[in-house]
Amino acid sequence: MAELLLDAVTKQFDGHPAVAAVDLAVADGEFLALLGPSGCGKTTLLRLIAGFERPDAGRIRIAGREVAGPDRQVPPEERRVGLVFQSYALWPHMSVAENVAYPLKVAGLGRAELARRRDAALATTGLEGFAGRRPADLSGGQRQRVALARCLVMEPPLVLLDEPLANLDVHLRAAMQEEFAAFHDKTGATMVYITHDQAEAMALADRIAVMHQGRLQQVAPPRALYNEPETAMVAGFIGEGSLLEGELLGFEADGRARVSLWGCRASLRARPDQAPGRVLVSLRPEHLRLAAAETPGTLPARVRRTVYRGGRVAVELRPEADPDTSLLLLEPEASAPETGQAVGVAIKGGWVIPRSTEQL
Ligand SMILES: Nc1ncnc2c1ncn2[C@@H]1O[C@H](COP(=O)(O)OP(=O)(O)OP(=O)(O)O)[C@@H](O)[C@H]1O
Ligand SMILES: [Mg+2]
Repeated sequence: MAELLLDAVTKQFDGHPAVAAVDLAVADGEFLALLGPSGCGKTTLLRLIAGFERPDAGRIRIAGREVAGPDRQVPPEERRVGLVFQSYALWPHMSVAENVAYPLKVAGLGRAELARRRDAALATTGLEGFAGRRPADLSGGQRQRVALARCLVMEPPLVLLDEPLANLDVHLRAAMQEEFAAFHDKTGATMVYITHDQAEAMALADRIAVMHQGRLQQVAPPRALYNEPETAMVAGFIGEGSLLEGELLGFEADGRARVSLWGCRASLRARPDQAPGRVLVSLRPEHLRLAAAETPGTLPARVRRTVYRGGRVAVELRPEADPDTSLLLLEPEASAPETGQAVGVAIKGGWVIPRSTEQL
């Protein structure tokens, strides 16, 4: 069992911080997804945890033991960390069973114990029927499972995965996601899982860490990340919707925030300590409703574009008061408006971004 702690971990390449003062605590047995734009430092962070990179500053602890610090760098093979990367290097001349057993052989395990652990890992990943095959005779998803089994066989208390499903098709991804979830349930291992796919992160993770330019923006359960993004970056990166400037006027008795958006009053959710004044507001598609043009209390807008989404239509709107902004809502196919049509938009909810003011 392994708790993972990062304390002000920093890593620079050629003077550019790839990972900047990252503090992170992953609980024993937690499934944490690491999400962020390309180049934001996700792989570097994982390599630091695994021991392939040495931090310039900060400390890393695994299961209470310091593995990286100012005067300590424990080598990767002594960290008891399992690794599954996108480019899974399987031995082409070995069978599936031999590939999976290889780390056990290197570790010098006896025959009986080796066979027991190999077979357990093959069973966990549903590979019993493929034990005798060569990697070349497997599908991409099956190869991916061999890589996972080879990692599991060592029974690592901490598993690091770097986009393990990135080169699989959508159906295989879904099947493999289930296997990762099942593996996690079964072993109770702590997992840190890098992905580009938000839906995957939301489906699998207890918490998601969003990274941007080497820094952690927010670490929160999927629902909190979607409903209460702390920064404009997180609001824009997670899910879809609109980011608008507004003015926080005060709070209602029920704790909701009174916000003016282009003179239209809306009652939104906000932190109770949110200061009045200019704020950024996150409006998800489900916060907006279409109304007939000039309905009192609605924002006058015009339909800029409609995109069919299968059963529903994504409607992009341009508020008359600010044609540079766009609002997005989803409408059933039957009631979708026409491009160019004038409409009213009712604002039924939304969230005031707490750390927005200094970013305006
Ligand atoms: N060995 C290296 N030498 C120099 N710069 C590096 C090195 N490794 C990474 N970088 C730089 O550090 C930054 C973070 O890279 P990293 O690979 O961690 O990003 P990432 O979040 O994993 O991106 P992606 O989603 O594209 O895989 C990038 O700007 C990258 O160019
Ligand atoms: Mg990467």
